[in-house]
Amino acid sequence: MHVFIILSIALSTAFLYARTRWKSMRMIDRDSFKVKLMIKLGIPHLLRMTGLSEILRVRYLYHFRACNGYETLLSNTGMAAVYAEALKFQIRDDDVFIATYPKSGTTWRQQIVWLICNNADINVAKDKPLSSRIPFLETIDMTDNVSLGIQTLEKWQKNKPRIIKTHLAYGLLPEDIQSGNKCKIIYVARNAKDVCVSYYFFHVMNMLLPHPGTWSEFLKNYSSGNILFGSWFPHVLTYWEKFQTDKERIYFTTYEAMKKDMKKEIVAVANFLGKKLTNEQIDIIFNFCTFDSTSKNKSTNYSKKCQKFMRKGEVGDWKNYFTINENAAFDELYNEKIKDSGLDIPFEM
Ligand code: A3P
Repeated sequence: MHVFIILSIALSTAFLYARTRWKSMRMIDRDSFKVKLMIKLGIPHLLRMTGLSEILRVRYLYHFRACNGYETLLSNTGMAAVYAEALKFQIRDDDVFIATYPKSGTTWRQQIVWLICNNADINVAKDKPLSSRIPFLETIDMTDNVSLGIQTLEKWQKNKPRIIKTHLAYGLLPEDIQSGNKCKIIYVARNAKDVCVSYYFFHVMNMLLPHPGTWSEFLKNYSSGNILFGSWFPHVLTYWEKFQTDKERIYFTTYEAMKKDMKKEIVAVANFLGKKLTNEQIDIIFNFCTFDSTSKNKSTNYSKKCQKFMRKGEVGDWKNYFTINENAAFDELYNEKIKDSGLDIPFEM
């Protein structure tokens, strides 16, 4: 009897202590703790093996308001700290940013820009993962709450120009850039319908993202901007607007332009960066970056993380998913949002 009473008191005390500690922790640290514990217990693997992760995935996003008032949505609370850090991130004059809304052909463009800046060295490009050659500014290591991208970039050798990937909207870029500092930005846009389809399938296969729901639910959320990285419209339109008055610093281009004539785009990017390529180098980059060879290249196809990262790589695939009504509604929204902007991204080729 005594043992039982002592045990109950000990357990209640431990429970109350843990609860108080838990409540006093910052949300970001709680999330990190949960992730660490789950990984230690092998839960993510178990959920994936049993298919339960598909059912249990969260369906919500966190609202984030930066100190400059810019608002967006995040998939976990840890990102808020990274975004705040990114605003203060110190840029270097020779930095080259590749900025995109997700699923706009970022990986494809990264490979090309890296090769342009590195004498078309496909041997290194084959072996060294793209993520280590071009850090992703706003990456977080959830187990330690560490801004991985920012830390890597801060340690980057001073004499080696940095190429930086970001999905940040213009208003969330480092303040240094927003105040007109010298680095270069290559912004790649892709037609909003193909982005939506590609983003939908990316959510389906990436267990770390919120559950996309059905295609129609996803399209609704995408159209209203209730989605990770926020609405496509202000993202693309702000860079487009900045490009009009700052063509020396910003090169605004599209996925479709690259599909239409990759060699022309390779030369245009090289010119923008002030690099001279030989015809042979242009051919090497071209051959290395076709959809087929990119899909086979383990440094870019992310085969371990998600099996179908290189899904179709086409312009106009949206026609296989949008119903007639969905398309009409989206067209109406699209025309309303982009009218007067002068932006013209083809939906088919
Ligand atoms: P799909 O899902 O439509 O196939 P990001 O790198 O920004 O995540 O973009 C991914 C999209 O770019 C995917 O689109 C992917 O297939 C496409 N992509 C990647 N490499 C490509 C290439 N070499 N040529 C054409 N499309 C490519």
